[in-house]
Amino acid sequence: MATSVQNKKAKILEKQKKYLFPNHVLYYTEPLPFDHGEGVFLWDTEGKKYLDFFGGILTTSVGHNRTEVTSAVQQQTEKIIHSSTLYPNEAHVNLAEKMAELAPGKLQVSFFTTSGTGANETAVVLAQTHTGNQEVIALRHAYHGRSAMGMSLTGVGTWRIGGTAIGSIKHALNPYCYRCPLKMTYPSCGVACAQDVEEVIKTTTSGKIAAFIAEPIQGVGGFITPPAEYLKITSEIAKHYGGLMISDEVQTGFGRTGDKWFGIEHSDVEPDIMTMAKGIANGFPLGNTMTTPEIAQSMMDAQLTLSTFGGNPVACAASLATMNVLEKDANPTRVAELGNMLRIGLEKMQEKYNIIGDVRGRGLMQGLELVKDRTTKEPAPEATKHLFEETRKLGLIIGKGGLYGNVVRISPPMTVNEEEIAMALDVLDKAFKVVQGAV
Ligand SMILES: Cc1ncc(COP(=O)(O)O)c(C=O)c1O
Repeated sequence: MATSVQNKKAKILEKQKKYLFPNHVLYYTEPLPFDHGEGVFLWDTEGKKYLDFFGGILTTSVGHNRTEVTSAVQQQTEKIIHSSTLYPNEAHVNLAEKMAELAPGKLQVSFFTTSGTGANETAVVLAQTHTGNQEVIALRHAYHGRSAMGMSLTGVGTWRIGGTAIGSIKHALNPYCYRCPLKMTYPSCGVACAQDVEEVIKTTTSGKIAAFIAEPIQGVGGFITPPAEYLKITSEIAKHYGGLMISDEVQTGFGRTGDKWFGIEHSDVEPDIMTMAKGIANGFPLGNTMTTPEIAQSMMDAQLTLSTFGGNPVACAASLATMNVLEKDANPTRVAELGNMLRIGLEKMQEKYNIIGDVRGRGLMQGLELVKDRTTKEPAPEATKHLFEETRKLGLIIGKGGLYGNVVRISPPMTVNEEEIAMALDVLDKAFKVVQGAV
């Protein structure tokens, strides 16, 4: 390998270590800098090619260097890059119109920010303003962001830096069927865990809540997928105690779960507020909080607010182009078909490899929980790390999650095709063979 190529990587890793906070979580024993991408493929700085089945954390929704997105960005950049939310902008309002078309129910108005964290901050403040209540119910194993409020909403201890805890946020049991917190089994359990939301409201709040916030599938938590009835029961409990239902669609939005544009739509629940980011603009920083015109009015009546970078015209242009590609080439029906193929392949792998304890998820959001023993379900974080190194060697990028660091997250760009899914399954099979052999 040419020395200049090796130097490039070494320099990146050296500067990473010297100039960035050491708490940046980096995958792999030797961190992996990427140089460029095309479709579902990535190339590292040494020219090695990888299949990208994590999409920069479910964010590159229509693939790398997608022409429609790149040219929309170029065109907008030449017109105007920034004006702030103080001035109406064509890309901003056009995107808001598109969001209203895609969103379910009465969710018709948007407030754009720059991240999922920002979207959730907006959602909670909105719910507090609208209801006049302060307390919020979130779920254990949830992830909602990295601000003080985002970490406080989060229910995975490892992501709550420094023990920060703001606001009156309480965490209810989550519907983690594989490791049921009540040691029961679905469906004979009658979704008993859902009742914990009421128990938590009655015992740890004043009885009047502002909101219940949940991810339709817990992402960082390890693609934990609730039983169909769970979100309906819990959102009705929240409503009974005065709270709005916030669906955090940061990972599950834009068709990712297949068949529907948003994850909550699988549950027959009309959320009062939905938050989104990640896949919204194929990698451009954009967050969005959607609600009904009536609820949005409460914030207007309360105080002033703005977002300097929110609704940035370039990010909005990228998002509009991303939505157009999704509608044309990777709509929710197509994602469901592809997800089905991926799921069947993963379930076959579970039959072969004992370390795969659970296969779960929906659409192109599939997770594998790795265990040392299927009976004890003891988590296997070391095997997960080993699988990462093996898949890296074989040229496949996957993601990780879960409180115990033992859930493999598979979520390729939604424009992936059948051949690419078959390639990824083949690599995973080879890697599992090595990892299973080493256990
Ligand atoms: C469900 C969910 N909500 C919120 C966030 C925070 O988004 P961001 O990292 O863009 O602030 C994330 C990030 O992973 C997420 O998965």
